[in-house]
Amino acid sequence: MTIRLHVNVDHVATVRNARGTVYPDPVFAAAVCERAGADGITAHLREDRRHINDADVERLRERITTFFNLEMAPTEEMLRIALKVRPDAVTLVPERREERTTEGGLDVVRGASTVGPVCRRLIEAGIKLSLFIAADEAQVEASHDLGAAQIELHTGEYCNATGKGRREQLALLVRAAQRASARGLEVAAGHGLTRHNVTDIAAIGPVAEVNIGHSIVADAVFGGLDSAVRDMRAALERGIALRNL
Ligand code: PXP
Repeated sequence: MTIRLHVNVDHVATVRNARGTVYPDPVFAAAVCERAGADGITAHLREDRRHINDADVERLRERITTFFNLEMAPTEEMLRIALKVRPDAVTLVPERREERTTEGGLDVVRGASTVGPVCRRLIEAGIKLSLFIAADEAQVEASHDLGAAQIELHTGEYCNATGKGRREQLALLVRAAQRASARGLEVAAGHGLTRHNVTDIAAIGPVAEVNIGHSIVADAVFGGLDSAVRDMRAALERGIALRNL
């Protein structure tokens, strides 16, 4: 038994877009992650294209050799893109323009009538359907009713909580994961996970996949900053050597 690690490369595109350059390239980042042992790559195409853009999604589809999970809101525009690009899986997420990142899970209990048609079209197209939901048994049941193959449990509240609150959030995640597993759903988890808080999530029996972005990119900054400064110093030294020719 293992857990699939899917790396979310959105933040690489965030850095690129901050300067309007072509680097750092999230597609190149995806290849590095795959070489390092990631089981899949996740990217979120947002309505405002603040990080990943349409061309990235097409290039990711062409270049990913492991598994491509496209996160998107359940809208007609996104559905059209998903049906054209055909990622291996689509994770439906809630999206509000003003939020900084995905806040809360998709409400598939109250939103079943609007989310349902999008779910049906994805399932008919043979794309694995995952629903990003809160650790709530009613949401799990509704996801099952909508025909999802997988649920992704929102771990944000667990990650933000401390002490007793964290233990309570963990218990909710365990209960939701068990209910999903009993219904034959695959269980993923994501949002806010770090090297420090992921272990208790990995210990939950049914959890088969995690989607992690922010903390991996943050760790990569410190893993790579030392060599980036040394490489820049070496480039300067090469220039200085040219002065003396
Ligand atoms: N899973 C889903 C459904 C998400 O929306 C996000 C954030 O885009 C993540 C996982 C990754 O969260 P983080 O960047 O905090 O690791």
